[in-house]
Amino acid sequence: MRKLMSAAGGLLAVAVFGLAAESQANEAGRKAERTACIACHSLRLIDSQRLSAAAWGKEIDKMVGWGATVPDRQVLLDYLASEYSDAKPVPAPAMSVGLK
Ligand code: HEC
Repeated sequence: MRKLMSAAGGLLAVAVFGLAAESQANEAGRKAERTACIACHSLRLIDSQRLSAAAWGKEIDKMVGWGATVPDRQVLLDYLASEYSDAKPVPAPAMSVGLK
């Protein structure tokens, strides 16, 4: 029983560590997005998209061509491709305040 519990504890530690590493990567990506992508439009325009990694790469390059400064392209690309992947369902359109 004790062995089982320590094995479970070990698994838990691995899971918690994995989550922490993932959320750290997410945090870095979110920060990159907030830094590089809010000069010209809101984040909603970005976060409402569901694209493949290749399509996100093209989006970033297009925005850079229009003047966006992206210090760490890979961090941003990984973040967008995982959070706003085309494997995820498209969110319901959010209405502007006051429109019903
Ligand atoms: C220099 C200004 C500028 C910056 C900075 C910028 N964008 Fe854009 N973005 C635009 C414009 C202008 C449009 C609307 C283009 C259109 O109507 O097709 C747009 C539209 C978009 C769209 C909607 C799809 C499309 O291609 O029209 C996405 C997604 C997007 N931007 C992502 C990003 C991301 C990710 C970043 C950060 C790397 C970013 N943008 C930074 C100017 C910018």
